[in-house]
Amino acid sequence: MTESTIELAGYRLPRTGFGAMRLPTEPADERAASIALLREAVELGVRLVDTAHLYGWGANEELVAEALSPYADGLLVATKLGVEQRVDHPDGAVYNGSEKFLRTQVEDALRRLRVERIDLMQLHRVDPQIPVAEQVGTLRDLRDEGKIGHIGLSEVDTAQLAEARSVVEIASVQNRYNILDREHEPVVDACTEAGIAFLPWRPIAAGITGKSTAITEIATELNATPTQIALAWLLHHSPVITPIPGTAARTHLTENLAAAHLDLTAEQYERLNNLATAEQR
Ligand SMILES: NC(=O)c1ccc[n+]([C@@H]2O[C@H](COP(=O)([O-])OP(=O)(O)OC[C@H]3O[C@@H](n4cnc5c(N)ncnc54)[C@H](OP(=O)(O)O)[C@@H]3O)[C@@H](O)[C@H]2O)c1
Repeated sequence: MTESTIELAGYRLPRTGFGAMRLPTEPADERAASIALLREAVELGVRLVDTAHLYGWGANEELVAEALSPYADGLLVATKLGVEQRVDHPDGAVYNGSEKFLRTQVEDALRRLRVERIDLMQLHRVDPQIPVAEQVGTLRDLRDEGKIGHIGLSEVDTAQLAEARSVVEIASVQNRYNILDREHEPVVDACTEAGIAFLPWRPIAAGITGKSTAITEIATELNATPTQIALAWLLHHSPVITPIPGTAARTHLTENLAAAHLDLTAEQYERLNNLATAEQR
């Protein structure tokens, strides 16, 4: 049985969280459904909800707060900062790790999430114009001031992780990673070695793992779905991996949470591991 817990940002959490990014915030009937789904996730045992300022430029954080605050005991709401909306820019946004901007974003997140401290604040992207050490230095100062509890990173390589860790304790790393996409394996290894939570984003490859014959075969063997196999593989792969699958569908929510109870044999795990490696080539 893979189900287990992880210590993150002062919380003891079940190892499957929930990514809120794709939940609609409008129109009103879809917003109501999103709120109901978030509440159901917590009722079903989810204790980690991941959001970001970027998701709807604050609208997703507000949705999470409307659904879940006052927050249940033991529920960690993690958010992210460091991306600035810029309508004049071709991408509509830029990475901004300046102290002034990060400080403004923390104040905005506190207000939107209706909390006095953000227990896990993640730097969404490293601003390439500013040294990593300086950006996490600002977050360290905000932690020392009590506005942030713990600091996480997103989309970093091992060198950036090491640089950040030379300045302040890093609680989590959130990179794109799943059974079909193992580009960030060295970062997973670094996190495993250091005992840092690794929160893969796109953990179920957005639901396409059924296209892999090997995954489907093992799903049939275990009377499970390909998505559940993708999640079970993550949970087996390293004790620090804490997937945050997202869904707007109740059936997918229960399916995804049930994956934590799946038992892969050592042979099945190896077959999946080899598949993932083979598909990298
Ligand atoms: N740090 C970053 O840069 C970054 C970037 C992207 C995302 N994230 C975070 O990571 C979370 C997850 O990422 P993601 O949404 O891109 O990827 P994902 O969780 O791998 O995929 C979500 C997609 O898969 C579908 N899905 C969910 N459960 C399913 C199931 N059991 N069977 C089939 N399809 C299923 C969902 O559609 P339905 O609604 O139809 O279920 C949704 O379209 C986000 O919510 C966000 O919090 C972080």
